Amino acid sequence: YFPELIRYSVLTSLIHYICFSVLLLQSDQSEYWKCNNCSELISHNNCLSYLLSKKYGSIFTVHFGPKKVVVLAGYKTVKQALVTQAEDFGDRDITPVFYDFNQGHGILFANGDSWKEMRRFALTNLRDFGMGKKGSEERILEEIPYLIEVFEKHEGKAFDTTQPVIYAVSNIISAIVYGRRFEYTDPLFTGMADRANESIHLTGSASIQMYNMFPWLGPWINDLTRLKKNIADSKMVVTELVRGLKETLNPQMCRGFVDSFLVRKQTLEESGNLDSFYHDDNLVFSVANLFGAGTDTTGTTLRWGLLLMAKYPHIQDQVQEEISRVIGSRQPLVENRKNLPYTDAVIHETQRLANIVPMAVPHTTSRDVTFQGYFIKKGTSVIPLLMSVLQDDSEWESPHTFNPSHFLDEQGRFVKRDAFMAFSAGRRVCLGEGLARMELFLFFTSLLQRFRFSPPPGVTEDDLDLTPSVGFTLNPSPHQLCAVSWD
Ligand code: HEM
Repeated sequence: YFPELIRYSVLTSLIHYICFSVLLLQSDQSEYWKCNNCSELISHNNCLSYLLSKKYGSIFTVHFGPKKVVVLAGYKTVKQALVTQAEDFGDRDITPVFYDFNQGHGILFANGDSWKEMRRFALTNLRDFGMGKKGSEERILEEIPYLIEVFEKHEGKAFDTTQPVIYAVSNIISAIVYGRRFEYTDPLFTGMADRANESIHLTGSASIQMYNMFPWLGPWINDLTRLKKNIADSKMVVTELVRGLKETLNPQMCRGFVDSFLVRKQTLEESGNLDSFYHDDNLVFSVANLFGAGTDTTGTTLRWGLLLMAKYPHIQDQVQEEISRVIGSRQPLVENRKNLPYTDAVIHETQRLANIVPMAVPHTTSRDVTFQGYFIKKGTSVIPLLMSVLQDDSEWESPHTFNPSHFLDEQGRFVKRDAFMAFSAGRRVCLGEGLARMELFLFFTSLLQRFRFSPPPGVTEDDLDLTPSVGFTLNPSPHQLCAVSWD
């Protein structure tokens, strides 16, 4: 029966593929599928799912090729799954490409006891090396002048903010993980940051989604070949940096996350525990995860913030007026946040509207679950549609416009909103939320204190396009801005 079986599975996969393509082609032509947020459709599961939720409600199933995926939409439903039933919905769906990234090790694409231990270790130890208030603030403040210097070098002429911003936020993770920053011209560092950035975009490409549905297509997918090369190169560089740190390790003076991991590993080995989770694969992939999850996300959000300031100069005016009134020319610090409610609201509203991780990272059910009257089998892939929460029209007054008042009360005080789920929620909530919030606040206020952002000459504010470029995260489409220094 074996040849029959192969013929059958190839045939059914092809049928699925054809049906899927037809669905996408049809959807492209129909008015119904026209999306306000972006133009591409095939790599565009996020918006497609969002539009489906408008038609089918807060819980429905879609088929990604042969795979059944449950989509959860709207604040109440997503909260119920991720927070109230956190244990049921808290596992990660390790798709073929996620497996290629980490082979089940590390934090982001792992499950079970190993994930639990790595997540716990990362949270507690990173607190000491950066995520704790003092440590991380100092590291960010140290980095800000380097970013400002690059912006100043453009002397008010239009430039693309992508690389300097990505390098600056990469350096925060580098300082926390390796205990040092790198020069923006260091080829080892730029290679590392550029590769991580490219890998995120490749992961969201249409062909990689095809590979997730039909892994046997792998050998014919160029993006996959490129991605695997990036993964191998990154692993090599991380291994090399770890080797250097190992040679100079002083257990009494840990420089960062890597040192702390190595000390724990050594201690366990010395006590005869040779079979712990503290092995090289978990070290290398946890480090890769912190870079992968912590740089593109924060950098992209910051770039959205600058673009929105250039597009809405009257909002930029109010941010700059507040910064100048409250802190003048002093260096903004985290403690100033409570006195900058408007600026804080603008940063939150940027995250809400930019909605950079629209489908979170897919989850699976860890056991058979009954949810809102539906039975969902253990191991079913689940997409908590964060986009549908951040744009839920029963939670936000004007969900599709940039409106900082979403986070302000009538007296202009900052108000927290439960439906602000840019970092997801529950068991898998973003591990770097505290750090990311601090980075966004300090980088954003420091840049706005120093520069006026505007479109390039000949481009009007209206011309600045907010259509995202769709990848695994939603990035601003390629654009340039002028950063004119006040001095
Ligand atoms: C996971 C958002 C910054 C590390 C996630 C998830 C989201 C997210 C939506 C998936 C949660 C889920 O599966 O339900 C963001 C945003 C950021 C940001 C919007 C910046 C604006 C960071 C930073 C770090 C980081 C700076 C590192 C220090 C992680 C890790 C995970 C994760 C390790 C996986 C957690 C797990 O699977 O247990 N993030 N993130 N993130 N994030 Fe972030």
